Order: sequence, then C-alpha cells, then structure tokens
Amino acid sequence: MSSHATSRIFVIGGTGAQGMPIVRSLVADKKYSVRVLTRDSSSPRAQALLALGNVSLLEGSFADEDVLREGFRGCDGVFINIDGFNTGEKTETYWAIRTYEMAIEAGIKFFVYGNLDYALKKSGYDSRFRTGHYDGKGRMAEWVLFQNEKNSDRMGAAVFTSGPYIEMVISPLTPMQPSVEDGVVTWRVPLGDGAVPHVALEDCGYYVRWLFDHPERSNGMDLEVAIEHVTYADMAAAFEKVTGHPAQYIDTDLDTYWSSPDLAGLVDAPAGYNTDPNDKSTMSFRDNFTGFWNVWKHGIITRDYALLDEIHPNRIKSAEEWFRREDQAGRDSGKGSLWERVQPENWSSDSAVLKSSADFRTGKL
Ligand SMILES: NC(=O)c1ccc[n+]([C@@H]2O[C@H](COP(=O)([O-])OP(=O)(O)OC[C@H]3O[C@@H](n4cnc5c(N)ncnc54)[C@H](OP(=O)(O)O)[C@@H]3O)[C@@H](O)[C@H]2O)c1
Repeated sequence: MSSHATSRIFVIGGTGAQGMPIVRSLVADKKYSVRVLTRDSSSPRAQALLALGNVSLLEGSFADEDVLREGFRGCDGVFINIDGFNTGEKTETYWAIRTYEMAIEAGIKFFVYGNLDYALKKSGYDSRFRTGHYDGKGRMAEWVLFQNEKNSDRMGAAVFTSGPYIEMVISPLTPMQPSVEDGVVTWRVPLGDGAVPHVALEDCGYYVRWLFDHPERSNGMDLEVAIEHVTYADMAAAFEKVTGHPAQYIDTDLDTYWSSPDLAGLVDAPAGYNTDPNDKSTMSFRDNFTGFWNVWKHGIITRDYALLDEIHPNRIKSAEEWFRREDQAGRDSGKGSLWERVQPENWSSDSAVLKSSADFRTGKL
C-alpha cells in the first residue's frame, strides 16, 4: 500500500458549494471518514453533512493555528478550500502557507489544495487579467507543488484546480445571475464571444476522491477540471433545448454590467468581506471581476479534456447534459424544474449556490 494512503480526511470549506459534494463523495462508501471545519456547526449545511455518517464537525476558523492543529489531529489526509471571498488575497496567502506547513508537521500523509488558475501568470502578467480570487490561489498552488518536490515522501500533495461552477448560471447572487425579461431567461455578462470552462460541482466530488484514491499518480499533480468551454450563446441554446423555454445571451460592456442594480452596493466593496477596505492591496469587486470576465473573454485558460475523459469517463461533458441532469434532479427533490428555479419570485436565500451569498457575506475571519 502507498505510504500516502489515507482514510481520515480533514476538510476546510466542507459546508461550501464545492465542499459538500466532495465530502459526500469521500464518505459515500465509508472508505473515508471526514472531519469538517465550520464556523457554525448548527447550520443546515453542517447538519446535512453530519447526517451522512462518517462525518464529524469541528467548530472554528481556519485562521487559527490551534483550530488547525485540532483539525489535523488523528487525520492522515487534508483537503483545503480556503475562502478567499472571506479573507481576501493577502490573508488567504498566509493561511494557505501555514496550513501546508502545519499539515506536514502534524504527520499528514496527503494534502489536496483546492485551487483556481493563476490567471495573471497564464495571461503573461497582463494586469487586465488580474483576478485576486484566482491569483491568490494559483500562486499558492505553485508554491505547494514546489514544496512537494522536496517533501513528497513525507507528505504527498496534489492541486485540484476548478473554475466557475455551472450551478451559478441558475443561481441568485452570482456574477452570472440570470434575469427573466419578458419571459426570456437572460444572461447579460461582459463575455463577448469568449467561453467559460464551467465546472459541475458533482464532478468535483469525483475528482477529489480520485486524487485521494490514487496518490501514486496524483502526488505532484495539478488536476485542472471543467465540463467544457461554453459560450453563453451555446449556454442559452442548451437551456432552451432542455426546458423548452426561451433563453438569450446579451453581450454587455463592462460599464453597463457594473451599473446593474443587482451589483449596486457591491461594486466598490472589497471582494473579500473581511478584508480591510483601506489596505491598498485589497481588490474591489469591480476590479476583481473585471479581470475575471476578461480571462474568459480572451481565452486565457485551457483544459486537457482527454485527460479528464480518462480519469472520469462518466463526467458531465456539456452544459446541455448538466441542464438535463439538473432539471431532473430539481424535479425529483421538489425544488422544481429549471424553468421554475430561475424565476426570481421563486428565489429564497436557499436558492443561492454559494454559502457565503446565502449568509449575505457575513461571518468571522
Ligand atoms: N464560485 C465559484 O465558481 C468558485 C469556483 C472554484 C473555487 N471557488 C473558491 O472557493 C472558495 C469558496 O468556497 P465555495 O465556492 O464552496 O463557497 P461557499 O459556498 O461560499 O463556501 C464557503 C466555505 O468556506 C468556509 N469558511 C469561510 N470562512 C471560513 C473560516 N474563517 N474558517 C473556516 N471555514 C470558513 C465556509 O464554512 P462555514 O460558513 O460553515 O464556516 C464554507 O464552507 C473561494 O475561495 C472561491 O474563490 C469558487
């Protein structure tokens, strides 16, 4: 058996949009048990994870060494997704480093770093593509893999690079929240003819489980995932085909996008809700997500879809396939059809895919 084999995983971000399917996948057959860190163990998401079995909760913040030590105790694996929309880029950098260092010290065997593309570097260091919540993770992923060159026998490490969740295209309080205009589902975003490599959350569960299941291959790997690069014209066409209801994409210039009433109040706010707005390194929502949209508009990010087909042959391969599955899943679970779910009058805070949005960007660091 590999010296990097694990069975008890400490998860940071487990109650989040990404973390929930990852925890579900790890405990599905009881191969792994999971300790989930949360600032509020009484939240419905924390309780839903607990109800899965093989899950325990640890209450506290990742920005606390005592809490991290307690989280590592008795575990041999770690998955971390540090919430940059809480911390901002600078603080995220610090805690990513400390988490890695402390995991080694604690005797962890395998460390998986939840990542996003280092957009600035991939663009050739062009500030038009500067996206704090991407760069903050992407730099640290390189750092983790660099440390791993020396440390990989003692603790293996892999990077899990995801991207914009496709669930956000039907969810309130996201950068691509849909509107319904005269009965037409509408995405008004500054994407031009660009395409977004959207990610399906369910498949994140499979991929992270695969990284822990195959340390002999995944040690030192950066697994970059997506469904497909999808233009929003194709997204609208897929939505129409699946639901039978009209949908459209309207390319929108950045100034118009940022003057949308849905974004009022956020535009000049720090992207990280616990960031110091007076710190000159703090990126505003506008600066951060202007870079984000430019990244997709100009095709900065690539994926190796053949590799993903090999690792996950049954992965979701198109936006249409995801819409079809989600439409059925929504009907089966009583949430309603996709068409019903994008109607603003049916929205509640539970409709928000991101926990931080459902919590209205509150909570301690
Ligand atoms: N939106 C996307 O498309 C996307 C895609 C890939 C990656 N990401 C990145 O993923 C991160 C957010 O995760 P998410 O997408 O799953 O969002 P989310 O649904 O808002 O979840 C946030 C998670 O972070 C946890 N958290 C926040 N502050 C914490 C703290 N101080 N200590 C411990 N846990 C804390 C929350 O736990 P509790 O509230 O239970 O404490 C929750 O589990 C961000 O860095 C974002 O950039 C986002």
